[in-house]
Amino acid sequence: MSDWKTICRVDDIPVLGARRVARPGRTDVAIFRNAEDKVFALLDRCPHKGGPLSQGIVFGESVACPLHNWTIGLADGCAKAPDQGCTQRFSVKVEDGQVHLDLEELNPSAAEAARHAATQA
Ligand code: FES
Repeated sequence: MSDWKTICRVDDIPVLGARRVARPGRTDVAIFRNAEDKVFALLDRCPHKGGPLSQGIVFGESVACPLHNWTIGLADGCAKAPDQGCTQRFSVKVEDGQVHLDLEELNPSAAEAARHAATQA
């Protein structure tokens, strides 16, 4: 079963843009909103040379990397041919206009620690 962490409202993400979710000690996660108000989450690191995808332009269900304009699919995190490579994708749940990310994916060690604490209590 997943633990979900509330991140923000869908309305807090610019349409055709992104918002960064900081993770201490890890690469940020970028959450994107497209024209249909669909929300996607990817590691904020382009599979090409690590460009910040959160600063790219969203179109359809893709984002154009701001550095060299590769097209990355928002649903799978993978570059469109002829480019190759994928970045990590994250599960997203939208409920009542609120965006949630999977706690375990977001911060595997904290989720582990919380479970450990729960079993000790
Ligand atoms: S770093 Fe994204 S296209 Fe090069």
